[in-house]
Amino acid sequence: MNYEPLIQNTIDFVKETLQNAEGGHDWFHVERVFHTTKLISQHEEVDALVVQLAALLHDIADPKFYNGDESIGPGMATNFLKSQQVNEATIEHVVQIIQHMSFKNSLDKGSVTFSSKELETVQDADRLDAMGAIGIARAFNYGGFKNRALYDPDVPPNLKMTKEEYKKSNAPTINHFYEKLLLLKEKMNTETGKRLAQERHQFMLDYLEQFYKEWNGE
Ligand code: ADP
Ligand code: NI
Repeated sequence: MNYEPLIQNTIDFVKETLQNAEGGHDWFHVERVFHTTKLISQHEEVDALVVQLAALLHDIADPKFYNGDESIGPGMATNFLKSQQVNEATIEHVVQIIQHMSFKNSLDKGSVTFSSKELETVQDADRLDAMGAIGIARAFNYGGFKNRALYDPDVPPNLKMTKEEYKKSNAPTINHFYEKLLLLKEKMNTETGKRLAQERHQFMLDYLEQFYKEWNGE
């Protein structure tokens, strides 16, 4: 089946829907995740249509803007895919992936009830976008949006935060590297994801080294 027209319709739908989205989850984030997903799937046995649709639709409705409601995104994705006459099994798989994507979900290991190679692929692509040069830019963009300090030597990172504390934390952005970004490398599922993560991880370590040098006036 030639699914290129469906992919193009999905791109148009997502671009339109994310027109006013915040910087960290805008169309360009989705586009990067889409490209990385395709790259990873060249080396994985996955359903190419499922991973591409899931990559495109995974951030269609950020719960942060819907009172924390995590059902809006899956609902919008379902309606859209139905309108495109996509078959039930594909819709179901794509929606499962969207529901299980977020980092927060993976913190509660007990609540993870679904797994597939397709989920692993898109999840790797999404996590990779929080690493490396782009990941650094997104972190400081997020911190700036929240009016947080870049760094404060008197506020150490907290590696034992619960989901609630993590949400409420107003810690400096550098702490986010230790609390999340530097932990992502170990969470990669696929071989290609691991390889790409290694490079981006090292880039973040080099960045931090330079950051402290400049901070300390060296
Ligand atoms: P995701 O969409 O990957 O589940 P989030 O919505 O938590 O993740 O984050 C989106 C982007 O904002 C990511 O690049 C992430 O690193 C960044 N971000 C999230 N929380 C913080 C924070 N406390 N400080 C700095 N950056 C953050
Ligand atoms: Ni995302």
